[in-house]
Amino acid sequence: MAETKSAPLTTELYAYVLAHNPPLDPVQRALVESTHTLFPDSALKQVAEEQAPLLAFLVRLTGARQVVEVGTYTGLSALSMARALPAGGRLITLDISEEWTAHAREAWAEAGVDDRIDLRIAPALDSLRALPAEPHIDLAFIDANKDGYIDYWEEIVPRLRPGGLIVADNVLFMGQVVDPAVTGGPGAHIRAFNEHVAADRRMESVMLTVADGLTLARRTG
Ligand SMILES: C[S@@+](CC[C@H](N)C(=O)[O-])C[C@H]1O[C@@H](n2cnc3c(N)ncnc32)[C@H](O)[C@@H]1O
Repeated sequence: MAETKSAPLTTELYAYVLAHNPPLDPVQRALVESTHTLFPDSALKQVAEEQAPLLAFLVRLTGARQVVEVGTYTGLSALSMARALPAGGRLITLDISEEWTAHAREAWAEAGVDDRIDLRIAPALDSLRALPAEPHIDLAFIDANKDGYIDYWEEIVPRLRPGGLIVADNVLFMGQVVDPAVTGGPGAHIRAFNEHVAADRRMESVMLTVADGLTLARRTG
């Protein structure tokens, strides 16, 4: 079995990582805090703090102009990516919750990025199927119900421009992907998704141990 070269992520080391990343801006910071205050039972759904600047970085790195997000919640990842879009860029974000996304809308307006974000409230699979069929997406972020990941992947891949990027969150699912006792539920869905991604010859993918696991996949050809 391969030996890990990863440094154990202690609380101190995690704080060090955050201290050497771009800091959250005041609207992002307020959104993290208000999400924990208003929705303490679900606040873990929000992307990890180090993922906000990473998503912005990926949008800038790829020069993405058309971004699709599956899973809005209270809007931190959408805010981070929208801020990084070039002039004329657009982000379509999909969710089923009016309550959580109402909070997102407030933050986007406060940040002045609401004009470039198109929030669609409906089951994400329906919203994805309603998108134009031809390749037009530069970057997609999948971060919603785990039993939908494979279907979301299958709707997004043909709509990706050549070289387009898919970012999928929670691909380690707290380590459940390697726990043989986990035979159902989200951990098992993510395990099946990871197999699906690894076998997809249309895409070149790498799995990273960022937060709860992040896969980056690029459309080849
Ligand atoms: C992990 S959270 C997204 C976190 C978000 N990216 C952020 O940074 O704050 C997952 C979201 O997926 C949404 N969701 C769950 N099932 C869905 C479905 N079938 N269609 C669309 N959205 C769904 C939930 O309402 C929730 O807001």
